Amino acid sequence: MRTLFTFLLVLLAEPCFGADLTGNWAVLDPLPDGTVRTTYLDLHQEGSRITGTIRAGQFYFKIVESTGGSDGFTLTGSMMDGTAERRVKYEGQLVGDELHVATRRRPEAETTEMIAHRVPAGQGAYPPRRPLRGLHEVADNGLARTPPMGWNSWNKFAGRVDDAAVRGMADAMAGNGMKDVGYQYINIDDTWEAGRDAQGNITPNKKFPDMKALADYVHSKGLKIGIYSSPGPNTCAGYEGSFGHEEQDARTYAAWGIDYLKYDWCGARNLYADEEMRAVYQIMGDALLRAGRPIVYSLCQYGRAEVWKWGAAVGGNAWRTTGDIRDTWDSMTKIGFAQDELGPWAAPGHWNDPDMLEIGNGGMSDDEYRTHMSLWAILAAPLLAGNDLREMTPAILEILTNREVIAVNQDKDGKQGRRISKPGDQEVWSRPLADGGYAIGIFNRAAKPAKFSLKWSDVGEMSAPTHARELWAHKDLALKGEEYSATVPSHGVVMLRIAK
Ligand code: GLA
Repeated sequence: MRTLFTFLLVLLAEPCFGADLTGNWAVLDPLPDGTVRTTYLDLHQEGSRITGTIRAGQFYFKIVESTGGSDGFTLTGSMMDGTAERRVKYEGQLVGDELHVATRRRPEAETTEMIAHRVPAGQGAYPPRRPLRGLHEVADNGLARTPPMGWNSWNKFAGRVDDAAVRGMADAMAGNGMKDVGYQYINIDDTWEAGRDAQGNITPNKKFPDMKALADYVHSKGLKIGIYSSPGPNTCAGYEGSFGHEEQDARTYAAWGIDYLKYDWCGARNLYADEEMRAVYQIMGDALLRAGRPIVYSLCQYGRAEVWKWGAAVGGNAWRTTGDIRDTWDSMTKIGFAQDELGPWAAPGHWNDPDMLEIGNGGMSDDEYRTHMSLWAILAAPLLAGNDLREMTPAILEILTNREVIAVNQDKDGKQGRRISKPGDQEVWSRPLADGGYAIGIFNRAAKPAKFSLKWSDVGEMSAPTHARELWAHKDLALKGEEYSATVPSHGVVMLRIAK
């Protein structure tokens, strides 16, 4: 009895070294779309050492460092993202039966304070990886013979996309001339997902009351509809991914009438290495082919693992070649002008994707947006508008619907353009076209207008042309001599089409 009493006294006297923090803790953050963003801290305390895991949205950290105990602790979590390490820090303390924790979602972000409660062991446990099948060539689905054209919700709406916005975009695209020049897909990006029903079927959240009805509506406008998922358990925004449900999800998309899938690596990084991406993407490539509906397959894994070399072999119609674009001159040009070497990997049905358009989102000038559109056309890149199509200036609509520039993008030979020279701040790119001619972009990356001379002998195996079409001015030009000279506005472009 006396020994037991002493033991209890010791426990009370040293609360930091009790096992108080051990347990599975969850922070519940209900979102307006009816889903609950949950962070799990699965902790094991031994003396002053805390181990365990933290699962937050698409991230899954192993605790690698800790200090303190229940009356004040700091945890450092670490995870691998491909070959890069990502770390997170949580500080907290036990207050009654609540765990008060604080973290920063990004190093520069404000501190987020959260309260966690105990939940049963195993709840929210990260699923184990599934074995991968051997590699094979997934048959070509025959789609996207020219780069896909349409709209995607992410750049403008992010988590605010809903049924009404999607219908609004379909109405706008069908009525404002975009459909007439070839735009076709209305693509819902991340944050449409709720979870799974008792049979494991993916269900949309409150923002999308009836996905089939929405698809029917978009189809009724003569357009197509796209959706988004991840090969991981969670998407980038932390929503439900397709991991372990690939076949079922592909069938669900087909039943809803979906025509396009963007498939975003994110949560898969916690289970698979970059070298395994091909085998992982192959699962959905196979599943889509078996789903019984033609569905464009768009890979999004930020250009890692040299995706251009195997994207087509997993049935991919397009693959992102870079991280996310932002609506700035710096971001757009860093991405767009870095695509040169990937040229040989583009072909009808299989496109390099330097990310969606930012045209009309307000962060660049009209000249800069003309550069964006011209470069994406020369790169044979998917043209997915990322602005609010219901409200744009006539100048932006004109940029997005320039038929002559779009004809370059949609050229049926599908040869991606290449840089042919880069004297100083100017760059000249050229793209061979099916009619034997060329599209030429003379870009000025400088802060001042530049007078520029182009030697025809640098463009390709052609003799000096006698006329050209100026694709932004919609003008025929008479040419003389071995050179062409033009003044190119700052951050602007002169785009020409030369006939054979
Ligand atoms: C990633 C993708 C983006 C977008 C978001 C959605 O960052 O690269 O294009 O789909 O996820 O969460």
